[in-house]
Amino acid sequence: MAIVQVESLRKCYGSLTAVDGISFAVRKGECFGLLGPNGAGKTTTIRMLYGYTPRHAGRLELFGLDIDRDLREIKRRIGICQQEDSLDPDLNVRENLVGFARYFSIPRHAAEQRADELLHFFALHSRAGDKIATLSGGLKRRLMLARALVNTPDLLILDEPTTGLDPQSRQLLWEKLADLKEAGLTILLTTHYMEEAARLCDRLVIIDHGRILVEGAPAALVREQVGRSVLEIADPDRSVQEFLAHEGSRFEDLGRRLLVHLDDGDELFLKLTREVRAEGCTLRPATLEDLFLKLTGRELRE
Ligand SMILES: Nc1ncnc2c1ncn2[C@@H]1O[C@H](COP(=O)(O)OP(=O)(O)OP(=O)(O)O)[C@@H](O)[C@H]1O
Ligand SMILES: [Mg+2]
Repeated sequence: MAIVQVESLRKCYGSLTAVDGISFAVRKGECFGLLGPNGAGKTTTIRMLYGYTPRHAGRLELFGLDIDRDLREIKRRIGICQQEDSLDPDLNVRENLVGFARYFSIPRHAAEQRADELLHFFALHSRAGDKIATLSGGLKRRLMLARALVNTPDLLILDEPTTGLDPQSRQLLWEKLADLKEAGLTILLTTHYMEEAARLCDRLVIIDHGRILVEGAPAALVREQVGRSVLEIADPDRSVQEFLAHEGSRFEDLGRRLLVHLDDGDELFLKLTREVRAEGCTLRPATLEDLFLKLTGRELRE
């Protein structure tokens, strides 16, 4: 069963089409990723899902409910962690959770119980009485995530949950998200971290200029669209180029690096390193980042 069903969704800002006819479905219990460069339309898409941004066209259903008809019920069943920090600076850590529970008419006692549960789950209990201004970026993110779970949602929507976090905080959040997924929670997230997407997402879409470029399971997409491995050659000289041309290998020339996408790279790698040069040549598994750059290009956005 689809928890989220998006059909031909569109959003324009003046003459800019931010979301240009996107369709996808998120199944129950999966983690679904929205990937795309800055300005691709991820946040706009997500915001339309909970009625924060009005859409111009398209159909939206969550839990089989129509967003126009049943927005209140839909909002009751989702948890949202927005891209930007929206914690209440006048309240302490625990009060941010308990206070937020009021939006869902959760009785005080139950709200306090839930808050304490979440503080423990996110290892925030020792900071329960602290003011928001005293928290590091990583702690704020954890609290934002905890707050998104106050109403025990059926769907968790996360807009760049780990942007700006150090590796320790990111790892911890990945662990927690994996725990939540294992407990059956459906998760929809956007991210710029390919490792995060590869690790957490069962399926994902890569979008650019408001359109879906590709959809599928991360590992399968990489295999189909990039290959199994990538041969990287640093500071390539003419002999390397001639070798690749002679072997009939197509490569991407990045100036200081050449990339060759391969299905079975061992033979070419061995031949190159034996016959031309070994220095600066690396054979590595293809990654989601290779796919992302292949589909969205290498030029900077915004
Ligand atoms: N309120 C707004 N008014 C005008 N243009 C907007 C507004 N919100 C977003 N846009 C534009 O719509 C496009 C999509 O923006 P959006 O925030 O959805 O991108 P994104 O994929 O979330 O990017 P990022 O990775 O940087 O968060 C961008 O070109 C952006 O400048
Ligand atoms: Mg965004």
